[in-house]
Amino acid sequence: MTSAPVHAKGLEGVIADESAICNVEQTALIYRGYEIADLAAHASFEEVAFLLLIGHKPNASELKAFKDELIAERELPEMIKQNLKHAGELVNNKYAVPMDILRTAVSVLGHLDPDCQDNSAEANLRKAKRLLAKIPTVIGHMQNSIEGREFVAPRSDLSHSANLLYMMTGSEPSPEAEKVMDVSLVLYAEHDYNASTFTSRVIASTLGDMHGAVTGAVAALKGKLHGGANEAAMDMLSDIRNDIGPDNDAAKITGWMHKAFAEKRKLMGFGHRVYKNGDHRAPILHALGRKAAEARGEEFVKLFELGEAVQKIMADEKTIYPNVDFPCGMTYFTMGIPVPQYTPIFVASRITGWCAHIMEQHANNRIIRPRVAYIGPALRNWND
Ligand code: CMC
Repeated sequence: MTSAPVHAKGLEGVIADESAICNVEQTALIYRGYEIADLAAHASFEEVAFLLLIGHKPNASELKAFKDELIAERELPEMIKQNLKHAGELVNNKYAVPMDILRTAVSVLGHLDPDCQDNSAEANLRKAKRLLAKIPTVIGHMQNSIEGREFVAPRSDLSHSANLLYMMTGSEPSPEAEKVMDVSLVLYAEHDYNASTFTSRVIASTLGDMHGAVTGAVAALKGKLHGGANEAAMDMLSDIRNDIGPDNDAAKITGWMHKAFAEKRKLMGFGHRVYKNGDHRAPILHALGRKAAEARGEEFVKLFELGEAVQKIMADEKTIYPNVDFPCGMTYFTMGIPVPQYTPIFVASRITGWCAHIMEQHANNRIIRPRVAYIGPALRNWND
């Protein structure tokens, strides 16, 4: 009898291909040679988007041209706007969550994109820029519909981050809020073969088109074990707050955590397949979010203090550390962003990484088609 071939559950540790886009190490996260702390401190989201999509740091004129192209593509086709008018009805009646609305909008954007069926490098880059420019408008219009407001049209004088916040609320964000959003988008932009990016590459590897690959990636990102963790982390903190009351009573927090451990619950926003000593993005966003909380007032500082207490117990008792989604939940909450939009905002950033990977796949393709170790019934006859 032959034993089943060895397999890696969850593809843990499997090196599936080569990529020049991103390097995820225990000690560093690197986009095309630049470390994430360096980028978070010195690069704007548009610069990082250019770096990921085009492959090098833009000079001033390249950056201006890139920003102008994005601004020119912010408006949505009329058909999508008509569809998004129903977003509020669907979300408020719980038929859909914002990630579902965004997934459908990306798919329909494909129907309306003149390059949809063209997988050439030039067409892919044009499509990537259009998606990057239009996704914030989808999120903004969707949120307007959910709140029963007229659509807030994109503005051509605002950055990607400021315009996203502006379209969601109708108010121009403060420079501080714009900066926090921008850094969060820089941190979220790319992360090698994570589940959604891998999904997009599998679809691209069949010579599927970019909009199809991104639609699949959005579906993959929605899950709580992946991008959906930023919403789930905030929901978990709200649950803790409801259970323990308004004060951060240490004994009550410990009690809540021990009950979760006893029930073998996965705590959202903690753990990582690759990073075993902590996610480099988390402290960067935590520091920024905490500063924003200090500016907003006690309720928000207490949320961060609760998060810090939870983090300490996880570190001390489980040696499991927060990933970027944990501070993201607290940070976006502090900024007043509705929780169900946290993961769509992740899409507004990760679209850059996905599109870079789809282009890399199409440029040097071999279909992704692994095997599985069969463990079903032995051979048998239908007529027995
Ligand atoms: N809470 C409690 N225990 C955990 C957690 C957690 N969040 N994460 C890992 N563990 C435990 C896990 O139960 C296992 O214990 P044991 O060996 O006793 O069974 C051990 O740590 C190893 O974990 P694993 O399940 O083998 O880890 P994985 O690589 O399969 O999964 C993960 C990684 C991120 C899906 C997982 O840590 C998790 O479910 N975290 C919560 C969801 C989350 O925050 N996801 C965001 C991921 S990172 C950013 C992103 O993609 O957006």
